[in-house]
Amino acid sequence: MFPTALTSDQVATLAGVPVETTTPLLSVDVAHPAHAVSPILPGLMFEDINHSGEGGIYAELVQNRSMMADDTAPVHWSAVGGTTLALDTATPLNDVLKRSLKVVLPSGTGAGNRAGVANDGFWGIPVRPRTTYTARLFAKASRRIGPLTVTVESADGTTVYASAHLPRIGTAFPDRPFELTLRTGAGAPVTGDARLTVTTADPAAAGETLWLQHVSLFPPTYNHRPNGLRVDLMEKLVALKPKFLRFPGGNFLEGNTIATRFNWKNTIGPVWERPGHMDDAWGYWSTDGLGLLEYLEWVEDLRAQPVLAVFAGYALRGEHVTGDALKPYIQDALDEIEYVTGPVTSPWGARRAADGHPKPFPLEFVEIGNEDWFDSSGSYDERFAAFHDAIKAKYPHLKLIASTTVTSRTPDLIDEHYYLAPSAAQAATHKYDNRDRGSTKVFVGEWAAQEGRPTPDLNAALGDAAWLAGLIRNSDQVLMECYAPLFSHVKNNVWATNLIAYDNLNSYVSPSYWAQQMLTSRLGDTVLPATARALPGLATVATRAGNRLYVAVVNSGTQKVEVPVELKGLVKGVRKNATATVLTGPSRTATNTLTDPAALVPRTSTVTGAAAAFTSTLPPLSVTVLELVLT
Ligand code: AHR
Repeated sequence: MFPTALTSDQVATLAGVPVETTTPLLSVDVAHPAHAVSPILPGLMFEDINHSGEGGIYAELVQNRSMMADDTAPVHWSAVGGTTLALDTATPLNDVLKRSLKVVLPSGTGAGNRAGVANDGFWGIPVRPRTTYTARLFAKASRRIGPLTVTVESADGTTVYASAHLPRIGTAFPDRPFELTLRTGAGAPVTGDARLTVTTADPAAAGETLWLQHVSLFPPTYNHRPNGLRVDLMEKLVALKPKFLRFPGGNFLEGNTIATRFNWKNTIGPVWERPGHMDDAWGYWSTDGLGLLEYLEWVEDLRAQPVLAVFAGYALRGEHVTGDALKPYIQDALDEIEYVTGPVTSPWGARRAADGHPKPFPLEFVEIGNEDWFDSSGSYDERFAAFHDAIKAKYPHLKLIASTTVTSRTPDLIDEHYYLAPSAAQAATHKYDNRDRGSTKVFVGEWAAQEGRPTPDLNAALGDAAWLAGLIRNSDQVLMECYAPLFSHVKNNVWATNLIAYDNLNSYVSPSYWAQQMLTSRLGDTVLPATARALPGLATVATRAGNRLYVAVVNSGTQKVEVPVELKGLVKGVRKNATATVLTGPSRTATNTLTDPAALVPRTSTVTGAAAAFTSTLPPLSVTVLELVLT
């Protein structure tokens, strides 16, 4: 257990570095860069946890659109106008969506008496004025009926915000879904409390049966991609300028059992031909509408590169495969890499082209499994070797990441995960300082100082900033890092501390988001040696790009600190005016929320008096990045 905050002496003692007790001084050696900042250091990690994908960044608004979320009841669907609803396995859409929603229309259906179904979305359907939605659905009936009306309306059904009509539906499902456009008017409210309905008031439909499958509703998406991503969440990610996206997990990759792993081949092609699967690691249905191609296009939209995690024959509850039984999984991984990178003349490259993306995606990093230190059978060494040899034989340029220590082969990187108390994160700022510089390079593929729910508080952000300062300082060893988890829906916070949270209308970023944004956007290309001598509770990193100097300092203490700063090795001098970007707040537990999203945000101001030796004032509980200009 760690106390709330540690002094720098305590931190140094824990880290096994010498404690100096002389005059306080933050000393930066401008003339002798230590090493380059890893050009691929900051990234993002995503898996579908806390409704991060379904009901999160994947913009689909209908929950249980495929009727597959529950085997016994049409969950999230309710009757409108006295209909009777049931799951109908005798009326499948196709081989994978093996059932449909059967809606028996009452005898009173007719003018003024609409009847059909409603969907409650992910804790409501969001509505905004002047917004265009795209609905897609498969529908058929026991006789030709029409029109079928799709609405976005108030939860009590009294106010319709947007609607569209299908003139007629026939007695067989069409080959492709019907598509309708719905638009809210200027007077529509901003509410997250709406529902979607599909109804008819055709008197000819009275007593007839309607079947529905794949009932989908999308709002506008990022870059207008069909089947795309939520705009506000993407904007927050793009602003971080990540260098990579690690996906699809995490535990989501593995599944509780092999049957519920992320089986990428089931996640491509038309969304109504994807079976979906139970995200049993986190407790809800995944339509896999956010599938492999959608992840890759997401990476494209971030202008980042993928870190593709492939299933490696181990599931969370211990099921694992070795020997010949592993071969189909290795082949799946090879096929997956071909789908990502292969030319259109290759079988899986051709499939990618048929799915709408002829151009191969760049791929440099492949991770074999996730957190295989949990595999108590000890099979990872063998499994890693088998994947390694097969992948390197076909794709020698790929860099392979091991999810835990292996001795059978030498991985290009090893993925280490750290979920820490804030004070432990603060202490761990020195974790990599004394590492054997010749050992396997590190990818910190999941990390977080954990305090706060659903997002970190300021104390956690201070721990995160101190930890990240250590990663940047040691980015000759730690080539890549990404915080986890990335997202939580406020109504499904199964994992306590997450970077960004949202409901169906709004989203906000945490103090940790800001701390990371500050340290990774105000960052040079070389690390400068810096020592914080006799400065309790401070963690620091200094970098340089040309004539710009960036000095990040974390003050985890509750006292303001006057820090004497010394810039050694200046050729000339430093411009008197510098900028200071500061994130701070009134208490350790201060935080951002949906209702107060900007309680803690960094503020940039000009500071005067910068010189070869000057004093910097660090507010209590703060992250500061000083930007100085060398003359
Ligand atoms: O990030 C949440 C979970 O933590 C991940 O799924 C898993 O890899 C880790 O244990």
